[in-house]
Amino acid sequence: MVMMKPSTLVVYLAALVLALPLVAQTPSFTIQADHPTARVSPALYGLMTEEINYSYDGGIYGELIRDRTIGRAWDALDHWPMVARGNAQVNVSIDESSGPSAALTRSLRVAVASAGPNSPAGVENGGYWGIPARPHAIYTGSFYARTDTPGLPVTVTLQNDQTGMVAASATVAGLSGDWKQYTYTLTTGDVPVSSNNHLILTIARPATVWFDLVSLFPPTYQGRPGGNRIDIMNLLAAMHPQFLRLPGGNYLEGDRIADRFNWKQTIGPLVDRPTHPSPWHYRSSDGMGLLEFLEWCEDLKMQPVLAVYAGYSLGGEHVAPGPALEPYVQDALDEIEYVTGGTDTQWGAERAKNGHPAPFLLRYVEVGNEDQFDRSHSYDGRFAQFYRAIKHRYPNLQIIATTPVKSVTPDVIDEHFYMSAEKSFSEARHYDNADRKGPKIFVGEWATREGDPTPNLEAALADAAWLTGIERNSDLVVMASYAPLFVNVNPGGMQWSTDLIGYNALSSYGSPSYWTQVMFSTHLGTEVVASTLAGAPARVYASVTRDTVKRKLFVKVVNATSSPQSLAIALTGAGKLAPQATLTTMSGKTPNATNSIAHPDAIVPAARKVPIPGPKFNETFAPYSVNVLELSD
Ligand code: AHR
Repeated sequence: MVMMKPSTLVVYLAALVLALPLVAQTPSFTIQADHPTARVSPALYGLMTEEINYSYDGGIYGELIRDRTIGRAWDALDHWPMVARGNAQVNVSIDESSGPSAALTRSLRVAVASAGPNSPAGVENGGYWGIPARPHAIYTGSFYARTDTPGLPVTVTLQNDQTGMVAASATVAGLSGDWKQYTYTLTTGDVPVSSNNHLILTIARPATVWFDLVSLFPPTYQGRPGGNRIDIMNLLAAMHPQFLRLPGGNYLEGDRIADRFNWKQTIGPLVDRPTHPSPWHYRSSDGMGLLEFLEWCEDLKMQPVLAVYAGYSLGGEHVAPGPALEPYVQDALDEIEYVTGGTDTQWGAERAKNGHPAPFLLRYVEVGNEDQFDRSHSYDGRFAQFYRAIKHRYPNLQIIATTPVKSVTPDVIDEHFYMSAEKSFSEARHYDNADRKGPKIFVGEWATREGDPTPNLEAALADAAWLTGIERNSDLVVMASYAPLFVNVNPGGMQWSTDLIGYNALSSYGSPSYWTQVMFSTHLGTEVVASTLAGAPARVYASVTRDTVKRKLFVKVVNATSSPQSLAIALTGAGKLAPQATLTTMSGKTPNATNSIAHPDAIVPAARKVPIPGPKFNETFAPYSVNVLELSD
């Protein structure tokens, strides 16, 4: 027998203990299904929107013609090159002295010196990085024109750039010497799907034609004339959004006061809208005007969260509280009347004249945007002036401040968070201990900014972790919206990286972060219930809600680690559970995995049935995954 010294024995035994296989304890997730801790805000998930990244023009707004008006700031004719077939001769210029309306005072002058039936001449437009053509589709077009040769016909052609194939064409007969609007329809036949087409306007004899407001719309969502792109609206509809915060963001404020979203110049016939420069470095057509925003809400059954211009623009210009601010306050009151007023009110009647007699339901009005950046520190006074005037006339409206103020108490404060993934993970408990006695919170802009142009899986995991905290605290956080919502993925289309939904002329896709939102918003629930996660490693997050009407329990688990994560789930107070649940999982091989226009479905959620043996069971969640376990009784 080998004898050991006591000290050697201790070392030996310690080594033996360390060598024993470790029996790791499965982390526990205890859920008290009958212990609600908060009411879930029914309007929790919605959309934030503004003209950025070609969100409307070149985005959701269906218009296919780029720079359709020869607007005041468009000096170059980049998007209106001349067309001269055969030996035709043409000169294209901007005419500063002739336009179709008081709002559109310039036009495209197309002077054809030589042309014939086989050698037509004119101009063309390539749309927003191409005009799409689909088989057996009806495109609705119009333009304003006048000519020095009354009776002149114009041919409109949609032609494929590569093949030269004419997808559709139409003739507009008999132009007049005075400005008039002409309409045309392009009906495609059995053409292949393509995105690289031009719209071409030509004449076949020498003459001069002035064009403005040249328009072409594909079929739109629910067939709305001048409406929205179907594919993008379908992506939004799948998010079940409850509200639309409009019209910004910086876009509301403009770089200068003159460049703000001046809503009165965005309503009525398009020819009466002067268009305006946006802070995101391109001019807005204002086709997406106030009424179009509201109809977008109507189509997706969302409530508008109306942001009114509050006297501060991004370049630093501001309007001091007091008499100077009064016209802006009045503008906001008029705007609210346009949205909500009966047809017996001045602005309600205007809305009816614009084609929508029925008023819209409005609960929230936001005064300004990110006014903490106003270095004049005038927001307190400006907000109070708007607040008092709006409350006086519309006592039921909830008024949102963009930063804390002292002179009055806002109903809601809008807080914005643009975060790295690390920050989003660490902020998952941001609101857990927040004060419940003050205003409610609207997280009007938030995003995990990882991935370009659209977020990758890492961002989607961090978003999900952050949303567990938003959801858990949705007694306080009444609404939340990701920003920015859209990006046109073509070169030059993006001004701000990490955007929820990407598209080009032909198709669109949801990023992994988009799918996180879909998973959370379609499993909202009506109450948060108490739950405790114990022993789980860092980067595992969870929250639980139940829907008292549908009698469902939604268990959301985020496993942002690289290993599968088992949880010992113990439910109390859930009653008798159905023997099967639905587990919806979105996961990927690496955190950098992502979706793109070429691979739109690389990372998407998939649902499967899992057995539920009783109130205590183990469930394993995939590496890098967002999960919703939907239990029924
Ligand atoms: O979402 C992009 C911009 O970020 C918004 O326009 C602005 O409100 C914020 O600073």
